[in-house]
Amino acid sequence: MQISLTNSKVVNITNGIEKLSLPWQSDDSPNKPDDSSLPDDIGVGLQELASLNRRIFQPRLLPSHTVGTIGKGGMSKVFLITRDDDKVQLAQKEVTFDNARPFVNEVSALLLLKHENIIDVVEAGINRICKCSETNLAFRMEYIKDATHIKKVNLENPDEVIDLFKILIKATSALSEVHKNGIVHKDVKSKNIIFSDADNVKLIDFGLSKINRPDIGLVTTIENEGYMVGTPLYMAPEQTDDSTKCTYSSDIYSMVTTLYEALTGEHPIPEISFKETSAYYKSTLEVLSRIRHESPRDIRELNKHIVDKEFASTLLKGLAKEPKERIFKSAEDFSEFLKGVKLEKLLRFKKPLFFLNWFRRQTSNV
Ligand SMILES: Nc1ncnc2c1ncn2[C@@H]1O[C@H](COP(=O)(O)OP(=O)(O)OP(=O)(O)O)[C@@H](O)[C@H]1O
Ligand SMILES: [Mg+2]
Repeated sequence: MQISLTNSKVVNITNGIEKLSLPWQSDDSPNKPDDSSLPDDIGVGLQELASLNRRIFQPRLLPSHTVGTIGKGGMSKVFLITRDDDKVQLAQKEVTFDNARPFVNEVSALLLLKHENIIDVVEAGINRICKCSETNLAFRMEYIKDATHIKKVNLENPDEVIDLFKILIKATSALSEVHKNGIVHKDVKSKNIIFSDADNVKLIDFGLSKINRPDIGLVTTIENEGYMVGTPLYMAPEQTDDSTKCTYSSDIYSMVTTLYEALTGEHPIPEISFKETSAYYKSTLEVLSRIRHESPRDIRELNKHIVDKEFASTLLKGLAKEPKERIFKSAEDFSEFLKGVKLEKLLRFKKPLFFLNWFRRQTSNV
């Protein structure tokens, strides 16, 4: 197995990159850029992308100015920009040419997905052309103002718990749509579910996704057999071994880990911590091995407020090592489980009953 570490992801994308020509290199496209320094080999997969949606994929993005930085990931930077012509504010995710493959993957997946809880792509193309490795690709998507991501909730605050379940139900609905479209996300985690409030939730970050749509001639994956991509802390056991074995079940496993993290701040597997950062990188292989071999803990051991035995044992069944043994067979299954959670049964509370009734009303509406 070969791995390389980026900021928060383990990724290897160096193999199997075919060279394709850009659409405007093969014809007299009116969009042909006049910049003669365009590298010859820039067209990795961009041709497929362009043929998927010529309206969204343009050689050059429309003129804009950058307002500020809104995010930084292992492979990208995300900026807030304002487009010059219509003054629309958008989030612009930029990658260097070295990351062209995840870029193409992400935009291709987003073009196939239209769902209120999946971020909407509006433009993609070359952002800046310079010396080959610095060439910068970017896509633009709707901007979620004041976006935050799922964090550990205070279980003594019913509002926070209610919001957590609402957010996860929406994120799981997004995941179901992803799966229905033949796509495995492969990087489901708390940081890839952003929201401004519990009614405005978006699943993001499809750079590692695996698209299996032979019906439209689109089958992509960024890794080859024996390689591993994803964020180790959230990976399902089969993903830690070989990412090509990743299935919809692996995504659901990662979603269960995200729920577990939000309720406890802890990782289901003992001695893996979400908090260690530098130490965690040193021990990535150990983390992967623990996920493969160690049993997850009963969630009630980690937070005294959680008292529902059935809830706790269902989570453990959602984290079974073997995909076929997992209790949630689909994202809808997991969503139904989330919708059925009763706060008064889940938690030991001293709060008035109206909170609990309110919770029932809220979760039954989503
Ligand atoms: N449309 C958006 N609106 C607002 N903020 C966004 C948007 N897209 C991304 N962000 C912010 O930028 C961060 C990084 O984005 P993203 O996860 O797509 O990048 P990445 O390089 O793949 O990240 P990582 O390697 O950490 O998973 C997000 O966690 C989020 O905080
Ligand atoms: Mg991310």
